[in-house]
Amino acid sequence: MKEQIPAIQSDALARIAAAEDSRVLDEARVAVLGKKGSLTVLAAGMKDVPKEDKAEVGQLLNAARVAITEALEAKQQALQEVADRKALEGIDLTLPARPLPVGGLHPLTLIRDEAIGILRRMGFALADGPEIEDEFHCFDALNTPADHPARNEKDTFYCDSGKLLRTHTSSVQIRTMGKAQPPVRIIAPGSAYRRDEIDATHLSVFNQLEGLYVAADVSLPDLKGTLEYFFHELFGPQTEVRFRPHFFPFTEPSFEIDVKLTVKGQQPRWIEVAGCGMVDPAVFDSINAGRKDESFHPDKVTGFAFGMGLDRLAMIRWGIKDIRLLIENDIRFLKQFA
Ligand code: DAH
Repeated sequence: MKEQIPAIQSDALARIAAAEDSRVLDEARVAVLGKKGSLTVLAAGMKDVPKEDKAEVGQLLNAARVAITEALEAKQQALQEVADRKALEGIDLTLPARPLPVGGLHPLTLIRDEAIGILRRMGFALADGPEIEDEFHCFDALNTPADHPARNEKDTFYCDSGKLLRTHTSSVQIRTMGKAQPPVRIIAPGSAYRRDEIDATHLSVFNQLEGLYVAADVSLPDLKGTLEYFFHELFGPQTEVRFRPHFFPFTEPSFEIDVKLTVKGQQPRWIEVAGCGMVDPAVFDSINAGRKDESFHPDKVTGFAFGMGLDRLAMIRWGIKDIRLLIENDIRFLKQFA
């Protein structure tokens, strides 16, 4: 047995040295050290070795196992290095990486965040309300009579439950005043829904930004100053802003706001961007009736409100001619804002 050990060892080392890939190397390992491997089988014969020889034979066996194991490990590492080198062949690791595609914010998100930023600096806090509204918050409490055309089934999406998709964000005014105490100074960006024919300037889902400021002695000059400042911040200090008398059921007096759009090579023109006005006392009355107190008594508080079209603001800012571009997710269009 003693004589067989060096033979197995040198045979194993030769096989290991000759192995050209890790599969052949593993076969060599199994052939020597596996359950039925030559060294394993030989070691099983230890029990028949005479007592006085056991120590010496054991040592020889051990030394052989260590030598073979070390050779296996060294060879495995050498094979791996060759494989690594091969994998990297022809690859120049010093080349700059290809740029990854970078995402960007949607233009509507950009303009909304900018608008919110300006108004927050003026002390307005964010508020919101549900998009599936009831007639009370969307119309009745906003002093909009039952026969008002905006309430028509032709213009408003009604659910079978009698609820509706809010036609404007003005409902958030009612939601907010129903809970808060004056002074109230909030803005509410969000979606609104109308059964409009879809074309270059209309979508049936669009985006508004509502504002409401109610306190003692809020006046029309406050409204005008606030909104002029807002549009000058958003579109630049030279931007011309005009307040045109209008009618809304929930404000008195009411105005529409136009911004003068000047595009190079085009005749300047006025674009309507918002509605606004002084909160009608009838709105305060219905708030007080709903909350069963006099927190918003028209003798104690006054307020202004406004609602602007965020899609319109984006169209003006970037000269977007067709509102549908804002919902089509055409990457060629969106990429310009990234
Ligand atoms: N809700 C109106 C609309 O969608 C816009 C509006 C007008 C909002 C006057 C207001 C306001 O808050 O005071 O056409």
